[in-house]
Amino acid sequence: MTNPPTTPSPENNPANQDKTSLRSDLRNWISLGGGVIALGSFFAFILLFLLDVFSAGKSNAYIGILSYIVAPAFLFLGLALALFGYRIHRKARRSATGAAASRYSINLSNPRDRRRLSWFGLATTIFLLFTALGSYQSYHITESVEFCGAVCHVMTPEFVTYQGNAHARVACAECHVGSGAEWYVKSKLAGTRQLISFITNTYSRPIPTPVHNLRPARDTCEQCHWPEKFTGSIVRTYNHYMSDDANTPFTLKLMINVGGGSGKHTPADGIHWHITNKVEYYASDEKRQTIPWVRVTAADGTATVFKVDDYKDTPAAQSIRTMDCVDCHNRPAHRFKTPNDAVEESLYAGRIDAKLPAIKQVAVDALTQTYATEADALAGIAGKIRAKYSGQAAQNPQSLDATIAAVSDIYRANFFPAMNADWSKYPENVGHKNFPGCFRCHDGNHKAVGQGEKLIAASDCNSCHTILAQGAGAELAKLAPEGVKFKHPGDPIEGLLCNDCHNGKNQ
Ligand code: HEC
Ligand code: HEC
Ligand code: HEC
Ligand code: HEC
Ligand code: HEC
Ligand code: HEC
Repeated sequence: MTNPPTTPSPENNPANQDKTSLRSDLRNWISLGGGVIALGSFFAFILLFLLDVFSAGKSNAYIGILSYIVAPAFLFLGLALALFGYRIHRKARRSATGAAASRYSINLSNPRDRRRLSWFGLATTIFLLFTALGSYQSYHITESVEFCGAVCHVMTPEFVTYQGNAHARVACAECHVGSGAEWYVKSKLAGTRQLISFITNTYSRPIPTPVHNLRPARDTCEQCHWPEKFTGSIVRTYNHYMSDDANTPFTLKLMINVGGGSGKHTPADGIHWHITNKVEYYASDEKRQTIPWVRVTAADGTATVFKVDDYKDTPAAQSIRTMDCVDCHNRPAHRFKTPNDAVEESLYAGRIDAKLPAIKQVAVDALTQTYATEADALAGIAGKIRAKYSGQAAQNPQSLDATIAAVSDIYRANFFPAMNADWSKYPENVGHKNFPGCFRCHDGNHKAVGQGEKLIAASDCNSCHTILAQGAGAELAKLAPEGVKFKHPGDPIEGLLCNDCHNGKNQ
């Protein structure tokens, strides 16, 4: 902070020299290029920002990413380039003229310095404001459903299956990140790893499940669902069709004993008993489909271990998992429907014409061929169905077209050849028809250690649900409050698990 002792002539004035040399140092190709990039991206930002503001409510993740991440990145790149060019040029000039490094000085009594300082202050404030806005917006964008699901095509299968189900209005981040800074940072670190594997094309197809670093359900699901809620019994209807020429309907009405409760105001029992009690298990496979060892710890601390006969070991502590919501509801948001279920659903909705003979079998067959791409699949499906009904098509061409469209929709919504993803890669653990599910433990093979032949409770057909009605027509209309025995429509099933035969494909 030194004042020049005398007033020098204008050309000798160090301030003017600074000004001219600042200008000339900026006059080089690198700085010029940087300046153009910075200016261009600044205007691009303004334009995109206005576009985002005026698209009120319907803002699109792509515009958001461009305006708050890409444009600012280029703005910084441009500014950095300009600075870089300036420094190189200044260094070169200095070593050419042999000028000593100037001392930086600010003199507040000098109006020029005051002006510069005010401009500097203003620019800094604007810069900080934009940075704040940018980081706020990029936080929102990277947490948005479009960002997670639509921008990166790796997650297309999860994004598509997420639509049209109970959680279609719940943001991905509510289940996958939850609240708090720790998991936000964790998810961004994981995201960076995913980005690298995406760029280097080394990601796995399909994305493996279960997700090992999924945030525990108590921090996600239980923020919306209160685990102690007593649900009692719910009635569900399952509409099936046989693979015969008549596509004979076969319907089941089940009263499912969900139960729950904390034991304080309501009993704690039924299916949700597992979350108000401590149940741990060891799975011997990656997908947690084979469970040879289960341990229940009662409120008083006594533990009971249930094992299958041929499992002789004791699992290592770190491979034991405590059961939570996701051990049963593992597909609450992303359900890859089995071809059998999806075709039955469309038959029930009337989208597939049930009057076409054996259409259930034909449609399921068409869906379960191996196709390399979606285009191949859609062509294959249309070809197969047309070939089968070519003789009858003349009678009702519209219904055949509608049926082909419905089966194609099933394919698009549940099969993703590019990611190698479909129902067969993502077993669902609620129920026991197509996958082991509840029968991973309740199959009647797990015995309490040291208690003889004592089995896991709820191992017979009426402990989890009662069948209120089954069949079709007059038989289905007879409701039996006390429940009826399951009348299996196919072969005898004694001694077998349902998923020994039912694999989502042909039955
Ligand atoms: C209701 C909660 C919930 C919501 C909402 C949700 N997910 Fe998931 N997601 C899960 C659960 C639970 C799993 C399976 C965890 C397991 O089996 O370990 C999962 C698994 C995944 C997987 C791993 C592959 C797989 O299918 O198992 C990806 C990828 C994924 N989700 C992406 C998304 C995207 C993208 C969105 C938003 C479009 C989203 N999720 C919304 C709960 C949710
Ligand atoms: C942001 C809140 C929210 C979160 C987080 C959430 N859910 Fe839900 N969930 C809901 C709402 C709301 C419904 C009711 C939707 C309806 O009936 O339309 C629901 C419905 C359900 C249903 C009934 C589905 C059906 O088909 O009837 C299940 C099961 C369920 N959630 C499990 C879970 C699991 C498991 C998780 C954690 C992985 C979870 N939810 C996370 C809000 C949430
Ligand atoms: C032992 C397996 C199991 C566990 C663990 C479990 N559920 Fe369920 N839950 C079921 C079954 C089975 C049903 C009824 C059938 C269905 O939804 O397909 C059900 C039904 C539900 C419903 C629908 C109730 C209704 O009124 O329609 C919700 C919501 C739900 N569960 C949430 C949860 C949450 C949240 C957790 C964790 C705190 C959880 N469940 C843990 C098996 C389980
Ligand atoms: C990891 C193993 C495991 C899985 C998977 C499992 N259970 Fe259980 N379940 C148990 C154990 C252990 C008990 C307690 C057995 C005992 O004390 O005799 C139990 C008890 C029950 C009970 C009786 C609760 C009461 O009122 O005392 C019901 C009902 C039940 N389970 C239903 C289900 C359903 C439905 C599913 C699938 C959605 C399921 N379970 C999945 C291990 C499991
Ligand atoms: C441990 C509990 C449990 C036991 C034991 C059990 N079930 Fe189930 N079952 C369920 C649950 C839970 C569902 C509902 C699945 C869903 O909502 O997707 C179900 C669904 C069904 C369905 C309808 C499936 C469909 O897609 O139409 C039938 C039929 C059925 N069970 C028959 C039986 C028979 C027969 C037995 C005895 C061999 C049996 N269950 C034993 C829990 C159980
Ligand atoms: C021995 C093999 C086998 C076993 C085990 C078996 N099923 Fe089936 N199931 C069949 C066959 C075959 C059909 C007739 C398929 C058709 O016509 O589409 C069938 C049809 C059905 C249907 C109606 C049609 C459909 O495609 O959904 C239901 C529901 C059903 N079975 C449920 C069960 C349940 C629940 C269990 C376990 C308790 C079970 N099945 C065990 C072979 C079996």
